[in-house]
Amino acid sequence: MASLQHLPCTSATSTTSATQSRRPLFAKPSHFITHAKRNNRLQISCSSSEDQVNTPQGKVDRRNMLLGLGGMYGAANLISTPAASATPIQAPELDKCGVATNLNTGQQLDINCCPPTSQQIIDYRLPPVFQMKIRPSAHRVSPEYIFKYNMAIDRMKRLPKDDPRSFMQQANIHCAYCNGAYDQPGQGTLDLQVHNSWLFFPFHRWYLYFYERILGKLIGDPTFALPFWNWDNPKGMTMPPMFVDPKAAIYDDKRNQANLPPAVVDLGMTGNKDPLQVVANNLTIMYSEMIRANANVYDFMGQPYRAGTPVNPGPGSSERGSHVGIHVFVGDPRQPSGEDMGNFYSAGRDPLFYCHHANVDRMWSLWQYFLPSNKLPDKRITDPDFLNAAFLFYDENAQLVRVTVKDCLDNLRMGYDFERIDLPWLDYRPPAQTAKAKVTRTGTSASKAETVFPLKLDQIVRVLIPKTKKGKADELLVIEDIMVDTTKFLKFDVFVNDEDDNVGELDKAAYAGTYAQVPHKTNNKSATTSIRLKLTDLYDDMDVADDDTVVVTLVPRHQGEGVTIGGIKIIENPTPARP
Ligand code: C2O
Repeated sequence: MASLQHLPCTSATSTTSATQSRRPLFAKPSHFITHAKRNNRLQISCSSSEDQVNTPQGKVDRRNMLLGLGGMYGAANLISTPAASATPIQAPELDKCGVATNLNTGQQLDINCCPPTSQQIIDYRLPPVFQMKIRPSAHRVSPEYIFKYNMAIDRMKRLPKDDPRSFMQQANIHCAYCNGAYDQPGQGTLDLQVHNSWLFFPFHRWYLYFYERILGKLIGDPTFALPFWNWDNPKGMTMPPMFVDPKAAIYDDKRNQANLPPAVVDLGMTGNKDPLQVVANNLTIMYSEMIRANANVYDFMGQPYRAGTPVNPGPGSSERGSHVGIHVFVGDPRQPSGEDMGNFYSAGRDPLFYCHHANVDRMWSLWQYFLPSNKLPDKRITDPDFLNAAFLFYDENAQLVRVTVKDCLDNLRMGYDFERIDLPWLDYRPPAQTAKAKVTRTGTSASKAETVFPLKLDQIVRVLIPKTKKGKADELLVIEDIMVDTTKFLKFDVFVNDEDDNVGELDKAAYAGTYAQVPHKTNNKSATTSIRLKLTDLYDDMDVADDDTVVVTLVPRHQGEGVTIGGIKIIENPTPARP
């Protein structure tokens, strides 16, 4: 702690003007807070060292790019005052951690996934960054890297069982935060759940951050960086080979044996057996969930989740898309509940989980810094209930720390970046469909909306939905009151004016988006949620010229019986894109 104050607190020299544009985000006095008990805080101030992001040359690009993106971070006051915040999700009370539930069965788990308790909680302060860690693509790592990584995991496995940094304790973090072991502090028995909401990206970012630091510490290499599973690029669309060596510490035998390499990752769970088509589907899904289907920041990040909010306000496009796809792809169907990766309580027992989530985390970073911002009104969430939401983790020194969302919004500031890999999905817009869809011309097989809802999704359905105006418009498709069986893996796809029945192909203009979930706990077995899919680009790619209705097709992929749709409507986009 003392040494922190001896670190240089002024900015390093190699900052670019783009860095300057990001500075208001963090230009506030840093502080270091300890407290043995909550509400009894001791504040020690240190002048800011947070601007010192000491990056290797390559990073300059990104900053220049930031400028090109219109200075997203130019506006000051992104971080509102904590005092204004009424109801952020509070860090859990470890001493009240209880029994967790198997989300696939609804049964209580017979394992204890609560962490050790600790008398002292420190408010975590990001250390200054002197050398950027670069997370490598898992398919491209060197034998030396694989050796080091395995050594680190092996040492983690050898730590005493009650050491919060040990392999199982780390795996159990996911179980405790995701399977109902914690209640929201001060909210009775309302569960704390970090999935299916805007907490999804921040929670997992912090989780991996400490996991990575623990591994680095165990091998005495503070530059150690976790690998990412580059499943968004065709070259990464198999399980990374290093994870399937049975002698390796990073091996796990509870995986779907049919999906070992060379099986191609099926992000869309379409079951299509043609590997080239599956790759095309995957790229289409990436383009859709990163760019095409999102009308505002919540569509990507997930819906607001505050103290007192019941779980599952709604997952973002990435969480419910590629993220779920990989969990399903890896989870072992021979196990009772899809363990390890196919179930939240056990997912962290597979080292591949962290590699998967490193790419999920990369998607967040790419979305923030690399994707065209002109298609969205704003990419920031300035709501203090988001920024001040808090979690607890044990750091690499087994110190219990409290972290907040606002400190994890920038991966560079957290000291890591990702190896540059091209993004083949970035321009993977489906080809325009020139002819008017037969489906609207004939209008035969589609039912009228008034007659079909609520609708159980046990088969493919087509429904005629009125548009807000004729022709092309800035509109959203809203699928509402989706009632889901929360104990099941679920997935369905949504198409608009799709004229053919080849549901194994997603790379077409008619594909509008996806809903999928990993099982999750709620206080009863069902939950209601909704999704919005932006149609603007879809209309551009299809001939909707004089139509005042479209045909929406819902294709169940997984456990459609577990889904009931309350309604579908088309609304005008309430948050139109920037000009
Ligand atoms: Cu916390 Cu991929 O799940």
